[in-house]
Amino acid sequence: MHNFLPYAWFQGSCVPFKEARVSIATHALHYGTGAFGGMRAIPDPENENCVLLFRADKHAKRLSQSAKLLLTDLSQQNVTDALIKVIKANSPTKPIYLRPFVYTSDLGIAPRLHNIETDFFIYGLELGDYLSPDGVSCRFSSWARQQDCSLPLRGKISGAYITSSLSKTEAVMSGYDESLLMNNRGKVCEASGMNLFIVRDDILITPGVDQDILEGITRSSVMEIAHNMGIKVIERAVDKTELFIADEVFLTGTAAKITPIRKIESTTLSSKRPVMDSLRERLTLITEGRDPAYSKWITRVDLNDE
Ligand SMILES: Cc1ncc(COP(=O)(O)O)c(C=O)c1O
Repeated sequence: MHNFLPYAWFQGSCVPFKEARVSIATHALHYGTGAFGGMRAIPDPENENCVLLFRADKHAKRLSQSAKLLLTDLSQQNVTDALIKVIKANSPTKPIYLRPFVYTSDLGIAPRLHNIETDFFIYGLELGDYLSPDGVSCRFSSWARQQDCSLPLRGKISGAYITSSLSKTEAVMSGYDESLLMNNRGKVCEASGMNLFIVRDDILITPGVDQDILEGITRSSVMEIAHNMGIKVIERAVDKTELFIADEVFLTGTAAKITPIRKIESTTLSSKRPVMDSLRERLTLITEGRDPAYSKWITRVDLNDE
């Protein structure tokens, strides 16, 4: 059961969530021709009239770029303005996840992106931990991550999530928490909705942007935090066997935050994760608006502001 926020952004204004409805003939529902974002916002632990959004600019920019890939225009500013209006309309008192979505809203058939009406909505829900912060078990998926030459992987295109859904369910139905996907070149790519990091000999390694990954905002934030902490960070192709012998393996994502992997298939990994622990501690401070060095990453929404 989800606790949806009472107000959504729909057709250009805030309306009660229950009134934000689309037709069964909606084009995007049939063809996966939508793109979404996913971001967290939390009540400011130090000011009850304020809500903190993590990297709103990056999320809005990625959604605007996703819209461009769907040949529709949605400016970063439009996304940010609507997000702020939704937060103000709902005045959340618990951590929330916001889901903006741009999509072909036309009714009727024929897969296409030209001569078609598009729309944009946002809704939100309360969200605690998406994965256990104590760690997850993973299996390699029998489904491969798509290639950028088949669909635009730089955007969060809704149709692409069939592969995430297949792999996640395959993992859960065979007794694991999460799936790890390889790309078509046989290199480790990411999980169903998270990027992947390993630590080997104190070096932080993550598959590069040429490995068909989603360019995760948590991923780039973690890389920057690590770099500023003096940790060496390398982006490169990662092989499957490296995961079994790495000192630490963890996932990053807006929903998952930083989640350790404790077991991969039949191999139990070390429960000592000093690099991940220090990164997680810092990321938590930053998202709670308590690290002045990263105050630019936080958008403060004042609920009293008209
Ligand atoms: C397929 C996929 N990979 C990685 C991520 C992590 O990205 P971010 O850190 O921007 O949430 C997500 C979640 O958005 C995702 O859906």
